[in-house]
Amino acid sequence: MSKSGNPSPVASTTGAGAPAPSDRNSLTVGADGPIVLHDVHFLEQMAHFNREKVPERQPHAKGSGAFGVFKATEDVSRYTKAAVFQQGGSTEMLARFSTVAGEAGSPDTWRDVRGFALRFYTGEGNYDLVGNNTPIFFVRDPMKFPHFIRSQKRLPDSGLRDSHMQWDFWTSNPESAHQVTYLMGERGLPRTWRHMNGYGSHTYMWVNARGEKSWVKYHFHTQQGMEFFSNAEAAVMSGQDADFHRRDLFEAIARGEFPSWVLSVQVMPYAAAKTYRFNPFDLTKTWSHKDYPLIRVGTMTLNRNPENFFAQIEQAAFSPGNTVPGIGLSPDKMLLGRAFAYNDAQRNRIGTNFHQLPVNKPRVPVNSYMFDGHMAYEHSGNAPVYVPNSGGRPWTDTTGAAEDGWEADGALVRNAYTLHAEDDDFGQPGALVREVFNDAQRSNLVDTVAGALRGVRSPVLERAFDYWKSVDTQLGARIESKVRGG
Ligand code: HEM
Repeated sequence: MSKSGNPSPVASTTGAGAPAPSDRNSLTVGADGPIVLHDVHFLEQMAHFNREKVPERQPHAKGSGAFGVFKATEDVSRYTKAAVFQQGGSTEMLARFSTVAGEAGSPDTWRDVRGFALRFYTGEGNYDLVGNNTPIFFVRDPMKFPHFIRSQKRLPDSGLRDSHMQWDFWTSNPESAHQVTYLMGERGLPRTWRHMNGYGSHTYMWVNARGEKSWVKYHFHTQQGMEFFSNAEAAVMSGQDADFHRRDLFEAIARGEFPSWVLSVQVMPYAAAKTYRFNPFDLTKTWSHKDYPLIRVGTMTLNRNPENFFAQIEQAAFSPGNTVPGIGLSPDKMLLGRAFAYNDAQRNRIGTNFHQLPVNKPRVPVNSYMFDGHMAYEHSGNAPVYVPNSGGRPWTDTTGAAEDGWEADGALVRNAYTLHAEDDDFGQPGALVREVFNDAQRSNLVDTVAGALRGVRSPVLERAFDYWKSVDTQLGARIESKVRGG
């Protein structure tokens, strides 16, 4: 539009590319007469508007992100042959940060875990690391995940969020204690996405050029420093600016202040997993840094805002199943469940050929036998669509032991218990409260938990007191007395 409000000289078109007749006036029989059915441009605009929205992510609906670069500054080739982590390499990337439970329009500063989803457009295909701002999670079996998420969302009748339902789930699943302690502490309210750490959380496998395997955990440390909101500040901000985190990231990058994170890994020798004092594949546990110190890998910097939020952020389709040579999964059941869940969600959320969209398209040539389907755009001409073929189109046929596999042997079981010496649910959260938190942080934790227990009824309330006493006797007693008005 020019300043006078007249149409600009670059005219709009219909979807078919013909000049659009008018974007402001529909075609009517006389000035006040009915609109006619053959105003094709009007009908096209209406019909497309009705289809503008795609389903929001279930969970992690509210978020935003930016593009950037990962630079591998250190030599970790003794652990992985992945091109993205070879010293001196530089890889284009995308990051999306999010909350878990809130809907697409919910406030950024509600207390919640934050998503930390990363995509590396590597020379060997897309590598996605879909983590959080905490190194652990609420449950250790993917069967529980949909139940967990529903308990954090809304009641079936009133459509309201409900602390009773949240605590009912947490206290019935004591393995949640470690993550709930993190969530009720400072990390549940990061000041901005730029001021929080990120973690791969799960244990992954790295494989070097000689085929030797290790287990790794990823840590991204913010170079902006960790900063948090108090409960009061976050509550004010939720009302003042629901998009505070989205705005902060976009404006910082627009100003040329590019946030960065240093990636380090903990590496456990392959054979040590069997005898480590915790089950190293249990997502509710961290590995002691004394046992496995951090090894620096490189730096990620976000330096480019999306040009279009919907095309590049809403349609971004991350999956923990997107690995590359030199990086594999692990026996963590949660991770194995996730390897299925994401691309299935995206086929529903975006469409069968979501992987062909520019934000999801690898930067390397694709020769996939996924064929046709809604909105197929990429194709392989008249090349054979089946394997094996004698038409010259290559296919892959690797047999034998998987390079990134592990041994598994035994009867089929449904196993709620693990077999390592210190596999209890309360040891690590107890140590977090006693050894990592200082007095002020412990007092804030008491206040936050007591506040979060508002509206929780018997018998869940008593279970919550026991839960916190199991984390730490004194802490639990303080929470109980605060809630009971002491
Ligand atoms: C069995 C457990 C889990 C299941 C079944 C699951 C499933 C899902 C699904 C279906 C989505 C939406 C995907 C989309 O529509 O694009 C999602 C998003 C997400 N999940 Fe999970 N999830 C699980 C556990 C986890 C864990 C343990 C983490 C972190 C360590 C995590 C981090 C995320 C993040 C960051 C997103 C947002 C990705 C984005 O920004 O697009 N999830 N999850």
